[in-house]
Amino acid sequence: MNQYIAAIDQGTTSSRCIIFDHDGRVVSVAQKEHRQIFPQAGWVEHDPEELWLNTREVGAAALAKADLRRKDIAAIGITNQRETTIVWDRTTGKPVYNAIVWQDTRTDRLVERLAGDDGPDRYRAATGLPLSTYFSGPKVRWILDNVDGAREKAEAGRLAFGTVDTWILWHLTGGCGQDGNPPGVHVTDVTNASRTMLMDLETLQWDPQICEDFGIPMSVLPEIRSSSEVYGHARERGPLAGVPVAGILGDQQAATFGQACLSPGEAKNTYGTGNFLLLNTGTTPVHSKHGLLTTVCYRIGDADAVYALEGSIAVTGSLVQWLRDNLGIIDSAAEIETLAASVPDNGGAYIVPAFSGLFAPRWRPDARGVIAGLTRFVDKRHLARAALESTAFQTREVLEAMRADSQVDLSILKVDGGMVANELLMQFQSDMLAVPVVRPIVPETTALGAAYAAGLAVGYWSSEDDIRRNWTADKTWEPTMAADERGSLYAAWNKAVERTYDWA
Ligand code: G3P
Repeated sequence: MNQYIAAIDQGTTSSRCIIFDHDGRVVSVAQKEHRQIFPQAGWVEHDPEELWLNTREVGAAALAKADLRRKDIAAIGITNQRETTIVWDRTTGKPVYNAIVWQDTRTDRLVERLAGDDGPDRYRAATGLPLSTYFSGPKVRWILDNVDGAREKAEAGRLAFGTVDTWILWHLTGGCGQDGNPPGVHVTDVTNASRTMLMDLETLQWDPQICEDFGIPMSVLPEIRSSSEVYGHARERGPLAGVPVAGILGDQQAATFGQACLSPGEAKNTYGTGNFLLLNTGTTPVHSKHGLLTTVCYRIGDADAVYALEGSIAVTGSLVQWLRDNLGIIDSAAEIETLAASVPDNGGAYIVPAFSGLFAPRWRPDARGVIAGLTRFVDKRHLARAALESTAFQTREVLEAMRADSQVDLSILKVDGGMVANELLMQFQSDMLAVPVVRPIVPETTALGAAYAAGLAVGYWSSEDDIRRNWTADKTWEPTMAADERGSLYAAWNKAVERTYDWA
């Protein structure tokens, strides 16, 4: 087949476009980082216009690198950092405020108020989520309450809300519709909608009562569609003009799809800015009793939705960035492995990166980061090691919760994301879980998942069997650590985590 699929991956730190061929192999990649805006402690923002401009730029660059034209592209898929919230004016196309990023904790008091006497699980049965600053609903409410004139405009139907998929799709399919062209489509997919706290998990529609409780007029909300169908065609002038946009998946759901976790009991763990472990639970949502989220995994056209249990960890890869940018103990992210490997162990030091509180499975908004176990002996090599180990310890917490909720005992863990190039971390991860960890030959599973969703919608791939066939293992790490060492390291980690509580 001499056509390709273009996947746009608008993530927390960068925007990428990857072109895939029919075997699910990468043909070309273009990537651009964007600014992280920290107006005050706990606040994290992006400039929505920068996200859109970078997305356009990387789209054009990926095509140019592979010397492709629009006739070579069968469809476009979109995947995105989830929960990040944008509200814009439908007429001017201008955002009324910066994008409020998923890591942002400014809504902590609002979330407490919404919980009221019922507590954080007030909406868990309907939405699968605990009340938390993490999700989009409270962020929309914050914008409507704090941006001059926003509520009035929203009530008059002049504003649109979208997660990043919706913002990109709206622009890609026409934006505010200048020069006599129709405006872009205002649509999201079920996976992104399931992260707003405003969607009912069973009906897959916005829940009017929750919207009312949150003070969000339903006129701002996009239409919820499946993850794999033609939503519209790219309209902007440029190399992708006229190509159908046919797949949308939140980035973690996209990685689950791209890892071919297509049957109940299959799971993947993505090591990105944070870590996200998703277990496919089939067509019935499983409600967690151990601090996990219930979320929509994907919905292909009008087939039944498939659900997942998710363990979301806020800070893993971004801790490595923090060591680089805030402490300056490494010059590049890749350097952390060499530094950590130059000592045999963590020297007794543990870093708990509770920068945004703790997410799954503890959900402690009051937690803040600690470095525990410091002595004069500890130096930056031990801290580098402790930083990597914190990723593996947090993953173990999530995996234990997953076992308890689902009774599924994973025989392997499929992994992907930037940090899986780190051999030391992967070996330690396998040791800490006592489970083999396996990396696929195409590690770009997030973009690949969005490509599959788009390709299935236009008949480029005929069924999910094509996805299974394309998945191949690259490397497997087997556990080698003795059980008592595993136990004592994890016990010390747990003690360190308890030191983070009641801080904020
Ligand atoms: O829920 C947040 C998640 O979607 C962010 O993913 O890869 O941009 O860190 P990533």
